[in-house]
Amino acid sequence: MTDISQLHPHSQQQCSLKGLYLKLNLHQVAEQSDLLIYANYISSVDGRISLHDAESGEFIVPASIANRRDWRLYQELAAQADVMITSARYFRQLVKGKAQDLLPVGTALEYADLTKWRVEQGLKPQPDVVIISNSLNIPAQALAQLKDRRILICTSEKADAQKVDQLESSGHTVLIAGRKQVEGKQLKQQLIKAGYRSAYMIAGPEVHRTLVNEQVLDRLFLTTRLNLLAGDEFHTILNGDMGRPAALELLSLYLDRDLSSQQLFAQYALTDHEVNE
Ligand SMILES: NC(=O)c1ccc[n+]([C@@H]2O[C@H](COP(=O)([O-])OP(=O)(O)OC[C@H]3O[C@@H](n4cnc5c(N)ncnc54)[C@H](OP(=O)(O)O)[C@@H]3O)[C@@H](O)[C@H]2O)c1
Repeated sequence: MTDISQLHPHSQQQCSLKGLYLKLNLHQVAEQSDLLIYANYISSVDGRISLHDAESGEFIVPASIANRRDWRLYQELAAQADVMITSARYFRQLVKGKAQDLLPVGTALEYADLTKWRVEQGLKPQPDVVIISNSLNIPAQALAQLKDRRILICTSEKADAQKVDQLESSGHTVLIAGRKQVEGKQLKQQLIKAGYRSAYMIAGPEVHRTLVNEQVLDRLFLTTRLNLLAGDEFHTILNGDMGRPAALELLSLYLDRDLSSQQLFAQYALTDHEVNE
């Protein structure tokens, strides 16, 4: 069904949702010894990516913004990744049954084309996972749910040595990428060393700032659901302080005209990002 209008670059063309992001071939954009890092968020028009849920005490992505059509694009972005960058918080929520989903690529029939596509592209069936954490408070039961892929844990020199030993003796790789906390440039270098060319960042505002502040994020995919949520306890796509604003160039913009989930799909390039030499 062609219910997507392409607004930028301007075109009369109507597109279908399926394939909208898969055609980008993000796994082939970086040079052999470089890495493309891209992030993806869904937000309300008033900038909420998660709201505090009084019942569980957790911040969660509200059902009023999450939807299957955006989730399809989320899966398409995952399909193009060698590795996914996530936070320890995701694993802490996973064990409580509060995470959005098990990490993609989804095993449901509707995503079977994506698993097939990965095989055709010579990619592993599932992207590897890198978990960013200072506390190394990562429940073993949650890690055990991802037995089908390599898990790397990225932390700083401040990390608890005993926890590092425990993780390593359970077969996980622990990478040190920063002094007091994980630093964007060191993380990128570690991932290049591990042989990755495309990394999909799906964590929240803190990991996002870690990448943007050090100019290692290349692309930002932002879905804006056309609603307003309000609420005083929320996350937006970035928090904390940055030395200076990060400039963005709009690469593409689509309007999803599906009445059940009207939304804008924007893709930006970060224009002052670091080029690997
Ligand atoms: N709507 C959306 O598209 C969307 C997307 C992503 C997330 N979210 C929501 O946003 C909220 C926050 O997500 P999140 O907790 O994953 O976000 P986050 O703020 O990026 O990550 C928090 C955790 O990641 C680790 N971390 C972050 N930066 C680090 C650094 N530089 N060095 C070392 N560790 C670092 C820390 O783990 P330790 O505490 O273990 O040290 C920290 O507690 C959640 O409610 C989530 O559901 C929404």
